[in-house]
Amino acid sequence: MDAISLVAPRKLLIGGGSLAKLPGLLAEFGLSRPLVVTDPWIVSSGMIDRVLAPLARAGITAHVFSDTVADPTDTVVKAGVEILKSGHFDCLLGFGGGSPMDTAKAMAILAAARPGQLMRDFKVPASADRAALPVICIPTTAGTGSEATRFTIVTDTAHDEKMLIAGLGALPLAALVDYELTYSVPPRVTADTGIDSLTHALEAYVSARANSVSDLYATAAMRLISTHLRTAHAEPRNAAARAAMMEGATLAGLAFSNSSVALVHGMSRPLGAHFHVPHGLSNAMLLPAVTRFGMQAGLRRYAEAARIMGIAAANTPDDVAGELLVQELAALNKDMHVPSPKTYGIPQDQYEGLLEVMAQQALASGSPANNPRVPEQAQIVALYREVYAGGA
Ligand SMILES: NC(=O)c1ccc[n+]([C@@H]2O[C@H](COP(=O)([O-])OP(=O)(O)OC[C@H]3O[C@@H](n4cnc5c(N)ncnc54)[C@H](O)[C@@H]3O)[C@@H](O)[C@H]2O)c1
Ligand SMILES: [Fe+2]
Repeated sequence: MDAISLVAPRKLLIGGGSLAKLPGLLAEFGLSRPLVVTDPWIVSSGMIDRVLAPLARAGITAHVFSDTVADPTDTVVKAGVEILKSGHFDCLLGFGGGSPMDTAKAMAILAAARPGQLMRDFKVPASADRAALPVICIPTTAGTGSEATRFTIVTDTAHDEKMLIAGLGALPLAALVDYELTYSVPPRVTADTGIDSLTHALEAYVSARANSVSDLYATAAMRLISTHLRTAHAEPRNAAARAAMMEGATLAGLAFSNSSVALVHGMSRPLGAHFHVPHGLSNAMLLPAVTRFGMQAGLRRYAEAARIMGIAAANTPDDVAGELLVQELAALNKDMHVPSPKTYGIPQDQYEGLLEVMAQQALASGSPANNPRVPEQAQIVALYREVYAGGA
């Protein structure tokens, strides 16, 4: 067996009110000239002050780059690098959902590139190990777990491809994980980001690359998320649910960063890239059907996941527990009003026309190779067809 390889940020501060510790965290690392990378909503809503105010009290005037877009693009990353190079910054603060955090990470990687290198030169199987500056992440969704992972996902605008970029260059130096920032997350985003976290934990757990340490993170994350996701969705101000979801999202990030994601994520990225479906939502559309596809090959692990999530009893036979898992994932989608690609508004002719390309891109990302059942291209096409109208 391969050696277990573990990565994590050097420091993670998790809990309500931890944002107040930002100046101290910067001081611990000897940093004082941050460029804050965020999105336009964080600025227009005033949430940006949650970061700028404690910094100002500590005598730090931060500059802000807020032109990030949902599902970051290579063009936005390039524009960010120009800002980065025009100032004397010593770190990047990725503040927001996965999109601003991933933009900050990608900026750090691209800023360390040799002349002429483009973002796409860093996509897997390349290893993006160098970053020009350290990145500190502060997530505002629960979530991608990007604050704890060695990944960033950037869209190649020339080819409409969501590129997976992996390596130590994408691993944050530190993160502040404060659930109080998530009270304002609307139900749709709570559902999508929460299912993204659950998918991270489940895929890390059933992945061919799962190991004893990633299992610890994945099982803890599955417990937290399965218990609290519906409550966080229904009661946005429920502190216990928001806290559990935020911790679960970070643990799920640590899980898949030290194991991997698998077929759901492999298929989700092309769906998101071609039809602009938010990342968590495209995962949700695929999760029940892809879980059923891998069930027999991964039965023991899927059944155990069902027990961990409290869906099956300790003595429930594996095949029954596996079926209960698929049913629960479908029920979760129903309860949280997850549309199918069809009801989301994706025209069938466009969808059909891109199926082979999407399947090729899914395979090329490498993620499907970690699935309990590794699909052929034709099986990926069949799965895309199956979910189109909402099949599981
Ligand atoms: N790097 C990784 O390991 C990793 C893992 C999974 C997903 N991702 C990537 O992360 C991105 C998705 O991130 P996301 O799902 O967090 O979405 P996002 O960052 O695109 O944010 C979604 C929306 O929620 C809003 N929002 C954010 N915080 C809010 C708050 N506290 N209150 C109200 N609204 C808020 C944003 O302004 C935006 O409109 C995708 O690009 C995906 O590919 C990365
Ligand atoms: Fe994800």
